[in-house]
Amino acid sequence: MSTASDLGFQVRPGGRLRGRLRVPGDKSISHRAVMLGAIADGVTRISGFLEGADNLATLGAFRAMGVPIEGPEVGRVRIAGVGLRGLRAPRSDLDLGNSGTSMRLLAGLLAGQRFATTLVGDPSLSKRPMRRVTEPLERMGARIETTDPGTAPLQIAPVAGLRPISYAPPVASAQVKSCLLLAGLYAKGETCVTEPTLTRDHTERMLAAFGHPVRRAGSRICITGGGRLSACRLDIPGDISSAAFFLVGASIAPGSDLTLEHVGVNPTRIGVLNILRAMGADIRLTNPRNAGGEPVADVRVRAAPLQGIVIPRDQVPLAIDEFPALFIAAACARGETLLTGAEELRVKESDRIRVMAEGLAALGVAVEPRADGIRIRGGGYGGGRVDSGGDHRVAMAFAIAALRAGAPIEVRDCAHVNTSFPGFAALAAGVGLGIEERRA
Ligand code: S3P
Repeated sequence: MSTASDLGFQVRPGGRLRGRLRVPGDKSISHRAVMLGAIADGVTRISGFLEGADNLATLGAFRAMGVPIEGPEVGRVRIAGVGLRGLRAPRSDLDLGNSGTSMRLLAGLLAGQRFATTLVGDPSLSKRPMRRVTEPLERMGARIETTDPGTAPLQIAPVAGLRPISYAPPVASAQVKSCLLLAGLYAKGETCVTEPTLTRDHTERMLAAFGHPVRRAGSRICITGGGRLSACRLDIPGDISSAAFFLVGASIAPGSDLTLEHVGVNPTRIGVLNILRAMGADIRLTNPRNAGGEPVADVRVRAAPLQGIVIPRDQVPLAIDEFPALFIAAACARGETLLTGAEELRVKESDRIRVMAEGLAALGVAVEPRADGIRIRGGGYGGGRVDSGGDHRVAMAFAIAALRAGAPIEVRDCAHVNTSFPGFAALAAGVGLGIEERRA
């Protein structure tokens, strides 16, 4: 029997990326489409849905709570919404696999239900901090048990309803904000969240698309409980977090010229474009348009010499998932790159500062990990064997790194790539990456 750690990437050094491609749908938006579609009145039709393991875990959870869902089939999903109060008690624990977004957003959505649920996850998710959501939810009157260190399983007890709160999360987290806005739907009155820094606003945009808008005044976002959500049609754009590997790959590999079609370019997600451009990348957006309240464009990227920079702190939440790829750009740049204010990277699917620093060091890059970031000396590297730490984005980042490596790169433990980017290796090979999947 093969296990998650059996799958590896073997990647030839050099090459360039050319042509056009469309990356799979946005993971954050796909989760929210299922959640809001499930509790809306009427039939929601989704296209461009990401059929990765994380989003399938969200789909499975709502099916287990009695929501009729057809698909996914080539990105199409049809959800017969059951209304705000129509979810039913699941027969067993809801297994959310590797998906932090599923667990934290569902904790909010389920905190105010009149039935009990238990949310469980895989070993990585079971280590991630959950008090950031359970504490404010408890202030709203929810009853949730975690393990002693504040991790999953989350046992959510039934309650008659929730009370609204005004809350300022200590961490900049779209997951915490979204969790509380979803819980706010089940509270009597106005629930408000004040963000320490701007984070992705897909929940706010999608609530508006479902006819239940939130109010934003500066960094304060408020939602009124009750009412109803009305089903709608959603066309989900390509995930800029998946596009990031190609933005970096084409930037670092001489002779590259790649166009990524239909990429979501929501201003709260484009930190990777801002940071790469500040490093000297040649990235152009064309054909700007709107899809279901989300800005979309085609993105053309050509190879360009990169320069190390000090990454502006306000860009950190806007590029939070793209740092594994950005660290590879930094390793290829001239001079040093310094990242600070990014301690959140230590509690993602892996400790991304440690795992990336170890992998970069194995390739011969001079790195200095810090509690809240990293310093990377650019200028090139050799090949070798690196371990992804079971983290999808780390695996893809090191695969792309081969474009500038002096020798082949072998990346171990790559099965989790399927959580966010099924088909990554085939798509990357199609535009020029010398990648092969290997089972040990
Ligand atoms: C996400 C928010 C981010 C991000 C995650 C998806 C979301 O987490 O890292 O992959 O969909 O809301 P935080 O908001 O906790 O930083």
